[in-house]
Amino acid sequence: MGLLDGHVALVTGGSRGLGRAIAVTFAREGAYVAFNYSRSHADAEVTLEQLRAVGKGRAFATSVLDKVGLRELCKEVEAEAGAPIDILVNNAGIGQVVPVALMEEEDWDRMMDTHVKGAFLATQAVLRGMVRQKRGHVLNIGSLAGVKMLQAPVHYATAKAALKGFTESLSKEVARYGIRVNCLAPGLLEEGVSDNLPGHRREEFLRHCALGRLGKPQEVAELAAFLVSDRNTYMSGATVVVDGAV
Ligand SMILES: NC(=O)c1ccc[n+]([C@@H]2O[C@H](COP(=O)([O-])OP(=O)(O)OC[C@H]3O[C@@H](n4cnc5c(N)ncnc54)[C@H](OP(=O)(O)O)[C@@H]3O)[C@@H](O)[C@H]2O)c1
Repeated sequence: MGLLDGHVALVTGGSRGLGRAIAVTFAREGAYVAFNYSRSHADAEVTLEQLRAVGKGRAFATSVLDKVGLRELCKEVEAEAGAPIDILVNNAGIGQVVPVALMEEEDWDRMMDTHVKGAFLATQAVLRGMVRQKRGHVLNIGSLAGVKMLQAPVHYATAKAALKGFTESLSKEVARYGIRVNCLAPGLLEEGVSDNLPGHRREEFLRHCALGRLGKPQEVAELAAFLVSDRNTYMSGATVVVDGAV
């Protein structure tokens, strides 16, 4: 028995990094897993290969900012999986290291759009199916940077703090339909948006991290699988930090 047998999941930004680990782990646990991405076709092929080695699923080259494309994606997934999406992981994200004084308006908009508007649009696309089924779980991938004010790029920290607020308010609105909403906030991971961080920021994190190392995407993915599973029934509106004790 897999932890997610009988579930249908959408993982946004599944072409690499944390999204890939989550998509493959959910498939291993028995869910049908769709994932999307915006342009990394070769990376997406690797995820799909790993996913199909352990389970079932499909990749979509659909941006989280493509409202119409997301609706089509949901319809196609429902037709193929035989049930509507009942697990959404809002994971798609970008990183950029730039001080506020040098930030362009476009930098701010791209950061807020990808993380916050993208989560809103993806959630809206799956929500009707969840309401119809009277069950569902939305897991937003936040960040330690949106919870504790570490020295982090300000537009990134602001977007992640917004996702924490989105989690809390949405959890209240949709609880009556049996839908739970939580936020998983990793510290620094070995790969992904952390790749561009300057060395001194990485060292600062390691100095404060009691476990003394960066996290692995797989470690976060295992927790994500439990959080969205039927074994986790009373948690909603919560932000769970997984950071090795910073
Ligand atoms: N790595 C860390 O240390 C860390 C720590 C805390 C939180 N996080 C969060 O974890 C999440 C995943 O990050 P990661 O580190 O795994 O980064 P990553 O390796 O750069 O992966 C980001 C993923 O998001 C996708 N993406 C970006 N823009 C998109 C869009 N408009 N539409 C659809 N997909 C899009 C990318 O695909 P394309 O390239 O095709 O667009 C890629 O699949 C992010 O929300 C990030 O903020 C990461």
